[in-house]
Amino acid sequence: MRKIIIAIDGYSACGKSTTAREVARELNYRYIDTGAMYRAVTLHFLDKHVALTNPKEVTRALQEIRISFVVNSKGNSETFLNGINVEKAIRKMRISENVSQVSAIREVRVAMVEQQRRMGKDCGVVMDGRDIGTVVFPHAELKIFLTADILVRAFRRQKELLERDDLVDIDTIVENLQQRDLIDSNRAESPLRKAEDAIGIDTTHITIEEQVDEVIRLAMTKMIARIG
Ligand code: DC
Repeated sequence: MRKIIIAIDGYSACGKSTTAREVARELNYRYIDTGAMYRAVTLHFLDKHVALTNPKEVTRALQEIRISFVVNSKGNSETFLNGINVEKAIRKMRISENVSQVSAIREVRVAMVEQQRRMGKDCGVVMDGRDIGTVVFPHAELKIFLTADILVRAFRRQKELLERDDLVDIDTIVENLQQRDLIDSNRAESPLRKAEDAIGIDTTHITIEEQVDEVIRLAMTKMIARIG
């Protein structure tokens, strides 16, 4: 069966990454977490004290960055920044609090989108983010847009952080999610929005398994339609 591109966009903590990872595993596709790429850039910029308002400094810093994904022994993809595993470091609140500002910078988006297109050019990829169906792969065969109630999202994110020994109170998480929704949806460069041909799924009352099954069902329909 010919492989397709599956774009999964939506708000933070709607289960995009978990869904995308599981769908990729089931279909034997490559999974690309584009949020992790913006988080890795943010980590580098914070560590190097890059002035976000100085385009020359930003461009120079971007040239120093090499992001890659390596599949670990459990079959999960981990993010590497200049050869160092940063998977844990990029999930910290320090990064969540700064990533929307960094990902709104034009130079950052141009560099990441170029890399994402290269990663997905051979198809057979599930990519999750904010602008995959609108900007990175506007011709993706299947586009999904996930939403969920803000409190449900916050509790899911809190659980994820706890699993990484990071205890953050629910109000702080709600505030961070709302702040990021606002910046991500209103920035000038590739704002978060549902592509016209994307299929919306509200994940408030469904389980991850149901989300994954639904996306696989939709992917199969697309693949069969391409043969027929
Ligand atoms: O999916 P996430 O929460 O790990 O993403 C972190 C941030 O990166 C998010 O607040 C917005 C930004 N992002 C983006 O602008 N474009 C993408 N394709 C993916 C993420």
